[in-house]
Order: sequence, then C-alpha cells, then structure tokens
Amino acid sequence: MSEYILEIKNLTKDFPGVRALENVSLKIKKGEIHSLCGENGAGKSTLTSCISGVYPRNSYEGKIYFKGRETNYNSVKDSENEGLAIIHQELALSPYLSIYENIFLGHMDTKFGIINWNKYIKESKHYLEIVGLNEPPETVVSKLGVGKQQLVEIARALSKKAELLILDEPTSSLNDDESEKLLDLILEFKRQGITSVIISHKLNEVLKVADTVTILRDGRSISTYDVKADNLTEDMIIKDMVGRDLTHRFPERKSSPGETVMEVKNWTIYHPDFHKIKVVNNVSFYLRRGEILAFCGPMGAGRTELMMSLFGNSYGYRSEGELFINGKKTKLKRPRAAINIGLGYVSEDRKTLGLVLIQDIKTNITHASLGKISKFGVINNQKEIKEAERYRKDMNIRTPSINQFVRNLSGGNQQKVVLSKALMANPEIFIIDEPTRGIDVGAKTEIYGILNNMIAAGKSVIMISSELPEALGMADRIYVMNEGRIKGELPKNEATQEKIMHLALVG
Ligand SMILES: Nc1ncnc2c1ncn2[C@@H]1O[C@H](COP(=O)(O)OP(=O)(O)OP(=O)(O)O)[C@@H](O)[C@H]1O
Ligand SMILES: [Mg+2]
Repeated sequence: MSEYILEIKNLTKDFPGVRALENVSLKIKKGEIHSLCGENGAGKSTLTSCISGVYPRNSYEGKIYFKGRETNYNSVKDSENEGLAIIHQELALSPYLSIYENIFLGHMDTKFGIINWNKYIKESKHYLEIVGLNEPPETVVSKLGVGKQQLVEIARALSKKAELLILDEPTSSLNDDESEKLLDLILEFKRQGITSVIISHKLNEVLKVADTVTILRDGRSISTYDVKADNLTEDMIIKDMVGRDLTHRFPERKSSPGETVMEVKNWTIYHPDFHKIKVVNNVSFYLRRGEILAFCGPMGAGRTELMMSLFGNSYGYRSEGELFINGKKTKLKRPRAAINIGLGYVSEDRKTLGLVLIQDIKTNITHASLGKISKFGVINNQKEIKEAERYRKDMNIRTPSINQFVRNLSGGNQQKVVLSKALMANPEIFIIDEPTRGIDVGAKTEIYGILNNMIAAGKSVIMISSELPEALGMADRIYVMNEGRIKGELPKNEATQEKIMHLALVG
C-alpha cells in the first residue's frame, strides 16, 4: 500500500455563483498530522465535506483516494464505515440524547431487534476514559460544555475505529487548558497510528502539532510545507494565506480616554437554576469614553454572564448592584432598554443568539436597525441593500451576493455578519464577547481596525477575549476575572501575559 492514506486529485467544487474549490490536489501521509490553513472562505470546510461524503461523489469534479481506493461516498455514513471520521466546525451531536447514545448512534447491533443498552454504556466508558472525559455515560449531551461535547465526538470517532480523523477548528471554542488537552490527545492518536487532519486559525497550535501544513487560498492549494524540514513559521503561513506580508497585526491607535460613560458597582448575579449560587460576586468596574476595556480570565470566570446581565438582564435569576450610564443611575430590565440607551452586545455564540441562519445576509445585518431603513413602518429596500452592501465591502464579507443565506457562509464570514449587525445599530457602548473567534489573521486585523475607528468616533468598547495577545494588543485597560470576581486590573503599559495569568490564579 502507498504511504499516503488520502490523496486528492484536481478537486473542483462549485456552489451557485461560487467556485469554492478549484483544482485542489493534496496528499496526506499515513500516521501524520496534517494541518489545513487559509483565510475565511478559502474552502477548508468545503474540502473536508467533499472528503467525508457530506457532498456526494457526483457533486464535485476530481478524484479522492482513501487507503488507495477511489472513494464513492454519498453520505457521511459511507465514509464512517470505511474508517474516516469528521468533527465539524459546528458540533453535530444530538443534544437531548445521552453521551453513550451519541457515541453509538447509528452503529448499535441488535439481537432479534433488541439493543443491549448495558453493553453500550459499558463500552462507552472505555472510550470516555481514552479521551479523558470524566462524566457518567448517561449524561444528556446538552448539559455539557463545548469542550466536553467535542470529546464525545472524538469518542464516537474512536468507537467507529477511525483511521483518519478530520477536525474542523476543534479548539476555536476551547480555552487554553482544554485546547492543550485536545492537542495532546491528537498527538497520542498519532503514536497509535491514527492520521489526523486539523483545520485551525490558531497558527501557534498548528506549528505545535502538525507534521505537514497545506495552505489554501481562494479555493486553490497554494503550498505544502514540512514543518521541521522547512523551518515553518507563522509569518510564512500568513504570507501564503493572504498573499502578502502582514506586518501590523494590531493597528496603531492613539489612546486618550475621556469621562466615565459606564460604571458598575457591587454587581452580583444569582444562578438561573440554583438561586443561591452567585455566578458573579460583587464586581465593580468603570469604562471611559474612547476606551477599550478587555475582560480576561479562564472559561467559567463569569465574564459572559456579567455582560449579559448588564445588557438588559439577559442572564441570571436576579441581580444586585448599581449601574450608571453617563453618570445616571439606570435599571435596564430588558435588552431593548439597553439598546435604547446606547448599548450594543455581540454574543460569543453566533449560532443560537446572533443570527437567523435561514435568512439572507442583508436581513440579518439590518435586523437590529430597522428604524434606519424604514419610514412609517415600511422598509425601504434600496436603503436596506445599500447599507448591507456597505458592510459587505467594509468587512470584506466573502459572498457572491447579500441575498445569500447566512447558513451558506463560511464560519468566519458569519461572524463578520454578526459584527456588521451590531455596528449598524451604532451603539455608544459596544460589548463584544470573543470578537474574533474563528476569524482568520487578515480579517482579525480588519476587525481591530473597525474597533479603532469606533474609538476614534468617541465610542467605547468592552471586549471579552480569551486570546491574551489580542487583549494586550487592543485594550487600554484589562480586568482579570476568575470565579465570579474581579481579581485585578492592569493598564496597558503594565500588562503582560504572565501578570494576567498570575492575577487570575492568585488575585
Ligand atoms: N452550501 C453553500 N452554498 C453556497 N456557498 C457556499 C456553501 N458552502 C460554502 N460556500 C462558499 O464556499 C466558500 C468556501 O467556504 P468554506 O466554508 O469552505 O470556507 P472555510 O475555509 O472553511 O472558511 P472559515 O475559516 O471561515 O470556516 C465560501 O465562499 C462560502 O461562502
Ligand atoms: Mg470552515
């Protein structure tokens, strides 16, 4: 058998109005970790969907060989049966089924039509142990965080005896700790002879685990590198991704904060289900005009809950504390009240809170600002189109048309639509939770530029960021949270990664 487990020859894939892949050729060696890099919309997810049968054989041109044989898959089930497992960018488990049901769904044996559940509960424990997930197999999947759900997907792949594992942005919603565990797991699989393909925008992780890196640009395979032999660096990858050098990842900005526009005093939030638990405990902070504040801290620190609670009571059983906007004490009972007073909020979870996937781009962008494009309650279509086109251009949203359903956009481009929607409402105080999750390096810089423009226009920004370089590169001041409390505060010129981590842990 050849040394390659997967070979792709001259693959071309079209969607109406878009050529997603053009003449892509690629070889993946048995037992290696191969990483795919490329900008948002470069075609990475589409490529994996062709490989795994999400897109059937007759929907693309070119050939794919798995274990030396040409593939002819018409569904994911076909590829799974041959030892290929894919873990999608957006998780695909059945939320209301248990862990073990999800692991064995679709491949349980029956005896006279009866399933031996106990056998599967027992077997699932074996796989959960391998992936390091310490949860009873009967746990319903919707009760698990994203990181743990990912491990369930991997346990499922193992139970199907996968020989090739494809992971589409597996660490984009994980914190540093969880990411490291996952990458270690993939390295462990490599020792056992399992081949992995990893798609990621986190280039430091790519360089840490990958043996080989292939870069896609505009649907074409641009280059393939051997990480060790070619001494591959992040800058080399970026150059091939964007087609030019990217020198300033964090565009320059003058910082001269003005008066306090928002002040929070002794804010405490009670858990929505367990009313005695304080999710956020006695937090105080302030935000000035023309200032970017970053909130750092580990996952579960209470940052998202704090911001949601402040944004019109969107989280928690109840809250205590005082909120001042422009010096005036305010109670915001509903998100609408928050929007009316000039707050904007972009959630970290674009799928459930930010977007209507089965609507087009333009409707999604203008949704929160109907007042701007309508008169006497009637929407001015020309205006709507003009506004949406403006954001498509400014944010570089890759799509053939603003009438495209958001569902059909690449992950990173969906995120740009979420941001456009919030920007169009023109808030005075803009709260963004993980603004650049799943966004490629070039587009990140574009988004930083947009935030800087907001600051120059006298607005203020609060950002929750799990990427410390981003917080350090963008913020004027950083608050570090952990366990529902603010553990410390650092001005830009004193902040370092070490100090932030130290504050989070020790306070
Ligand atoms: N079902 C679809 N219908 C129409 N166009 C699509 C569809 N799926 C993907 N596309 C388009 O194909 C191109 C490639 O998208 P793809 O999702 O593969 O990008 P990606 O490299 O995974 O990006 P990201 O890093 O943002 O996830 C994009 O222009 C996208 O808009
Ligand atoms: Mg993708």
